[in-house]
Amino acid sequence: MPGTVYDQHAEWYTDVVQRRGLLHLQIIPRIMAFIGDIADQSVIDICCGEGIFTRELAAHGARATGVDLSKRMLGFAESQNTGTPVTYVHDDARVLSRLPDSDFDGAICVMALMDIDDISGVFRAASRVTRHSGWFVVVVTHPCFDISPRCHRGH
Ligand SMILES: C[S@@+](CC[C@H](N)C(=O)[O-])C[C@H]1O[C@@H](n2cnc3c(N)ncnc32)[C@H](O)[C@@H]1O
Repeated sequence: MPGTVYDQHAEWYTDVVQRRGLLHLQIIPRIMAFIGDIADQSVIDICCGEGIFTRELAAHGARATGVDLSKRMLGFAESQNTGTPVTYVHDDARVLSRLPDSDFDGAICVMALMDIDDISGVFRAASRVTRHSGWFVVVVTHPCFDISPRCHRGH
């Protein structure tokens, strides 16, 4: 299974996330408020990266599974022990071939669809692995909107 471009940038991206950039500071409370009570739900974090949202789902009581196609990103995810058990799976979001049908109550995919060519495949796969009437929350932005403070000062 091939990786993603994030295999080359895993260290940098993990550092960006762990410094809790503005983007993640904005997204985390909003997405958790939006999905509501997930205690005891089984939730998949599609394109989990270094696992910031997988850990957040687990901290809110979900049985959380993170999936990513980059083994290096998963390595950073697995190295972060939060005390709450989470599962990580190396798989392609466009098919999720390692995951069974209807296994999850809900799914999230944060800051990743803009990197993926076959978006329909991701929606099909997310629909297949979530139960009937399950939910799927997607957060996307374009990097051009992740503006550094220097840009605000007109430099
Ligand atoms: C910008 S990162 C976002 C990671 C995490 N969701 C976050 O918000 O920090 C995008 C992630 O998508 C993963 N990715 C890209 N294409 C993928 C695919 N086809 N299947 C699974 N993961 C993929 C990359 O490896 C990377 O970890």
